[in-house]
Amino acid sequence: MATSSSRRPGVFAIRDVRSLITETAEEGHGLKKAVGPLQLTAMGVGAIIGTGIFVVIGEGAGVAGPAVILSFVLAAVACAFSALSYAELASSIPVSGSAYTYTYATLGEIVAWIIGWDLILEYGVSVAAIAVGWGGNLNAFLDAAFGYTLPDAIAKSPEDGGVFNLPAVFIVLAITLLLCRGVTESARVNLVMVAVKLTVLLFFIVVAFINFGTGNFQPFAPDGIDGVTAAAAIIFFAYIGFDAVSTGSEEARNPAKDLPKAIIGSLLICTLFYVLTAVGAIGVASPQQLESSDAPLAAALDQGAGIGWAAAILALGAVVAITSVVLVIMYGQTRIFFAMCRDGLLPQRLAAVNQRYGTPARLTIILGVLIAILAALVPLSEIVKLVNIGTLFAFVLVNIGVIILRRTRPEMPRPYRVPWSPVLPILGVAFAIYLMADLPLATWIRFVVWLAVGMAIYFLYGYRNSRVRRENATGTPSWAREDGEQP
Ligand code: ALA
Repeated sequence: MATSSSRRPGVFAIRDVRSLITETAEEGHGLKKAVGPLQLTAMGVGAIIGTGIFVVIGEGAGVAGPAVILSFVLAAVACAFSALSYAELASSIPVSGSAYTYTYATLGEIVAWIIGWDLILEYGVSVAAIAVGWGGNLNAFLDAAFGYTLPDAIAKSPEDGGVFNLPAVFIVLAITLLLCRGVTESARVNLVMVAVKLTVLLFFIVVAFINFGTGNFQPFAPDGIDGVTAAAAIIFFAYIGFDAVSTGSEEARNPAKDLPKAIIGSLLICTLFYVLTAVGAIGVASPQQLESSDAPLAAALDQGAGIGWAAAILALGAVVAITSVVLVIMYGQTRIFFAMCRDGLLPQRLAAVNQRYGTPARLTIILGVLIAILAALVPLSEIVKLVNIGTLFAFVLVNIGVIILRRTRPEMPRPYRVPWSPVLPILGVAFAIYLMADLPLATWIRFVVWLAVGMAIYFLYGYRNSRVRRENATGTPSWAREDGEQP
């Protein structure tokens, strides 16, 4: 059988799937198994519904017109194929690290590093942006409810005319402390927040449909299919997060059954809510009204339907919704970093599990502080597109991973299998590339620069300290020491 450190040399060394699973039991490295299916699904919904539907929908409506409804469907279809691939890999390889770990087991170390570095865009960098969105919505709520707003100096980044963004720093550090305390508590808090955000969206949908008119639906697609696709590439942001479920697989009680259910279930729930929300929004407000507001759903009820008090409820709902996005996405980031440290591609010392809480507390605090600094100083705008391109790139690699692993490890137990493979994973790749192609050149350039910085770090640190490479040198994979088996 293949060894932990594989016979493939150099930068394409592969982690053995079995060793990945076995090593989670290693002393001091195992995480508590405390999360059930309902909590996992809530983790997905918690990561998905947030800034995208409450804020980015406005930009999408500006680009596609009323046809933004179709953009939500298109983005959901694009996600669905990849969601199936995530589900297969998460059920077969239920360890921390999501797409990073899957690619380490399939495409080799350097590709895993690239995707791990790429996932920092999806998780770490986006948390900073989402936290800024949280601060903005908090201000909108304070304004609507009490007629008071925080001064720009402590509520905006320098580029937006402030000094630093205190609310964004506050939410990042608060969530950091929650995650250090442990996943059970965090998941429970998340469950409550998810219930609140679904209720708020339902409230929006009901009020919008009661006041519904068809006047805003013409012209339906002013820029045709191009507009629909371009908007899909932007509002794709609203769907990011279902893969966060897979980053918690090491802590799932029954990952084989529950992960696929939670990944696909959370995507379905969110698609239904998004399409209804988009139809309702266009039913009460014009695309221009939606585009020109920082809180488009609240504006739709306020300016569109003339129900002012609803704006305060929507803004408060957005604050709660975005809180749980920060929680789950940041949770995912800590677990991906955890896996990268454990593999020696980042300093291994950081991966220590706190004895009292059973969480990688040291790592969580370091990440929390870095993200808080970013959140204090970085504006929201372009980051959405950068996060999107990074996430779509991860989708491409995950789908390819499914196809390769089916060939290289056909005997591996797959509690969940993507139907009609490789057709559906290939469609997943095609849809992801289709949406990536619609993002602006500037986004592509930033993305390539980000990857280049990542490569420099890999060759300066990860390449020399990789655990797989060290095991190659000693010839003793870590799991063999644990269970006495020889490679
Ligand atoms: N999907 C997440 C959001 O909408 C990232 O905020």
